Amino acid sequence: MNDYFQYRNGQLYAEQAPLADIAAQFGTPCYVYSRAALSDGFRQFAGASQGRELLVCYAVKANSNLAILNVFARLGAGFDIVSGGELQRVLAAGGDARKVVFSGVGKSVAEMRQALDAGILCFNVESSAELERLNEVAGDMGKVAPVSLRVNPDVDAKTHPYISTGLKQNKFGVAYDEAIALYRRARDLPHLRVTGIDCHIGSQLTETSPFIAAAEKILVLVDALGGEGIRLEHIDLGGGLGIRYNDEAPPAIAGYLAALLGVLRGRSEKLIIEPGRALVGNAGVLLTRVEYLKRGAEKNFAIVDAAMNDLMRPALYDAYHEILPVQLPPSPQHSPDCGGGGEREARSSIFEVVGPICETGDFIGHARDLAIAPQSLLAVLSAGAYGMSMSSNYNTRPRASEVMVEGGAVHLVRERETVAQLYAGERVVV
Ligand code: LLP
Repeated sequence: MNDYFQYRNGQLYAEQAPLADIAAQFGTPCYVYSRAALSDGFRQFAGASQGRELLVCYAVKANSNLAILNVFARLGAGFDIVSGGELQRVLAAGGDARKVVFSGVGKSVAEMRQALDAGILCFNVESSAELERLNEVAGDMGKVAPVSLRVNPDVDAKTHPYISTGLKQNKFGVAYDEAIALYRRARDLPHLRVTGIDCHIGSQLTETSPFIAAAEKILVLVDALGGEGIRLEHIDLGGGLGIRYNDEAPPAIAGYLAALLGVLRGRSEKLIIEPGRALVGNAGVLLTRVEYLKRGAEKNFAIVDAAMNDLMRPALYDAYHEILPVQLPPSPQHSPDCGGGGEREARSSIFEVVGPICETGDFIGHARDLAIAPQSLLAVLSAGAYGMSMSSNYNTRPRASEVMVEGGAVHLVRERETVAQLYAGERVVV
């Protein structure tokens, strides 16, 4: 729970809107976002710049709903994209191409063309082959591509191995020791203009020290490049600031930025950052309904209507998301079993919260103490980042609806998919 999702009289609200009403109106599973949480988060980043030029490029992959992109665009955000599709979304949502940085190890020719046409701020180039390709594509189009090299600083982000990106064994960025030679090459290529340097060491970092270590290593390169007459306009330190899911204690936004700005003190380059999770993670919940309670031989199961296709993080990373009942029971009572599935009265018990998908990995939470009955509503917290954006149609499950709450107003920002939409592009062979 946070300032935006709170109980009032035993009912869980998103801002001023009861989640039970949202479920009644839009069905479940349903992602619910708080506009105030999104805006306040963005303002915390933008307001902590201490007078330095700072561009906050929201990492679109965390949640790419147009309504969310639009909230940030209105607040002056830039965007960090990793595909032509994300660029198209940013533009459709009213984002400014001139504030877009394009990351990713596998940019296609078509994506490069699309981004050059749109006039983005910078390509974060991740290999020497990409540098050569970008030069050719820009040359064909009669353009000059602005480039920054994503350098792999070989710093341990101390996070889950799947989302750690700044170690030399990872596929990301150019090797630290090769960066200077590649900058010289970039300077000499006719259709490139060197504008910056970039690094991103991982996601869900809960300490500032790896960010500082990476920034210090990047600055050594910036100085060496300056010594060769290659002057950079910006330093992009990526995203990665963690959030609280359970008992983590990540640095506050202001503290994180103060630490980065401390390392940059006395320098004139503009700072770019690419936060994703820290802007949207705790601004969203996944609303789901209990279908059945089932007593297994060893465990009790709460089978809910959201599944790993809706929220993949538990299955993929063994990630923890807090799960709360939307309606608190009038008087909490404990019972050793789960009531056999037929009772309507909410009883507290320890449940495996699982979805309907045919895989044992389909769980939302393990061993949760919940007072629930069939039809109870649950809110899966901290689901705003990498929830909907990583969802799939596995088991031919239409993706969830999404709503944005603004005070007491509730706006549908994505309709629930229909099954017909899922197979609309398919053909039988006769
Ligand atoms: N910039 C780049 C180049 C990135 O690759 C990422 C995330 C970000 C910025 C934003 O990182 P954030 O501020 O959100 O930590 N699916 C995983 C997270 C994958 C992150 C991938 N890159 C999860 O659910 O935990």
